[in-house]
Amino acid sequence: MSSTNQLDKKSQAWSALFSEPMSELVKRYTASVFFDKRLWAADIEGSLAHADMLAAQAIISPQDLADIQRGMAQIKAEIEAGTFEWKLELEDVHLNIEARLTQLVGDAGKRLHTGRSRNDQVATDVRLWLRGEIDQIALLLDDMQRALVTIAAQNTETVMPGFTHMQVAQPVSFAHHLLAYVEMFARDAERLADLRRRVNRLPLGSAALAGTSYPLDRERVARTLGFDAVSQNSLDAVSDRDFAIEFTSFSTLVMIHVSRLAEEIVIWMSQNFGFINLSDRYCTGSSIMPQKRNPDVAELARGKSGRVVGHLMGLITLMKGQPLAYNKDNQEDKEPLFDTVDTVKDTLRIMAEMIGGEVAADGTRTGGLTVKAEAMERAALKGYATATDLADYLVKKGLPFRDAHEVVAHAVKEALGLGVDLSELPLATLQGFDARIEADVAEVLTLRGSLNARNVLGGTAPAQAQAQIARHQARLG
Ligand code: ARG
Repeated sequence: MSSTNQLDKKSQAWSALFSEPMSELVKRYTASVFFDKRLWAADIEGSLAHADMLAAQAIISPQDLADIQRGMAQIKAEIEAGTFEWKLELEDVHLNIEARLTQLVGDAGKRLHTGRSRNDQVATDVRLWLRGEIDQIALLLDDMQRALVTIAAQNTETVMPGFTHMQVAQPVSFAHHLLAYVEMFARDAERLADLRRRVNRLPLGSAALAGTSYPLDRERVARTLGFDAVSQNSLDAVSDRDFAIEFTSFSTLVMIHVSRLAEEIVIWMSQNFGFINLSDRYCTGSSIMPQKRNPDVAELARGKSGRVVGHLMGLITLMKGQPLAYNKDNQEDKEPLFDTVDTVKDTLRIMAEMIGGEVAADGTRTGGLTVKAEAMERAALKGYATATDLADYLVKKGLPFRDAHEVVAHAVKEALGLGVDLSELPLATLQGFDARIEADVAEVLTLRGSLNARNVLGGTAPAQAQAQIARHQARLG
């Protein structure tokens, strides 16, 4: 162990100018190590790439590089084993690791920070870490879509009421309904892939704010770390957290989509609808009402959208009004970002499993939601869902649409009065509203006739849903 550990001895990285130690309260207030230690792997990876470049540029010696690599390997092992001693007085993950490195390897550890500042270091670490999380979330978004497509594929002929204003509007297939969410998550995945390009740019080399006087090879560091590009303005690179805001904005949209789906699951599961059932593994009981099975997971997913929306507001507000370049405000980017990542990952995983079942290594699925097709169909028969079909029928017989709409309104009023469905009105009664109505109207007024008729691209006809399912399956693999 080296006795030249300045950082550790003084417990501060900047002590020479200071005549009294920092107050305990300020230490606690300004420290971030208890949450940013989560960045340790990215911090070590970034430091090793920096050291490798410093050696390649002959800014440090090959021996220094070897010492740094050896020290970092030990630190990694200590952190993984849980024996690394994180110190509050060393403020953050960066200073903790650097201090330990210097303790282990001496001067080489003190040379690591050449041409670098914590300002470009932290921006690099967060981007590296986030990129790894983005890649995991992309896979989870695919799983979510696969779960929905799996259930959709079994339900292209399952008729349910489609709603507008939460009133029965027109029949749709359950497949078509689920495929709407697949579209939403597919767009989320597109957004994620797009923002990843902007996350994946290297700030290192910006140093504190103005760049550095050492002949760094930033492109080399970018290549080592797998960054797509290097940042082009040092002031911007150390200070803006727009990449975190963009990611949280993406996350907000994912959570809003999840929340809408969760809300529907709660509604479908209620006794008044009874459209689906969830497996017991995803429900909870009540401590007082023995009959209860509650869709807690869906409710919680809906509820957790709130915290992510909150994190977005937090990050936007954090950025607003910060003058160039780095300000300590930016230390506040981490907890919201970490919680956003955790929430999105957990939520996508649990919702995908609850809907599509748990997927075994060989791809087989067990569990997942149970579809109660008869209940859906019964509900679709209730609200005159085929009224538009009758109007369309009359239009095809030559009546202008507005007039047809009026005729059907009268027919619905009659049926309502009699307490029957349109399809149950005698042909003669229908003909009383318009003489063009003939016996072939019967097929038009059925739920399946209505479904089959909507055979336009993007429509609910089983043939269309099957085509969409095939497209998604090919896309998702
Ligand atoms: N813990 C700090 C953060 O998260 C690291 C950068 C500190 N830089 C500084 N000049 N104080 O932003």
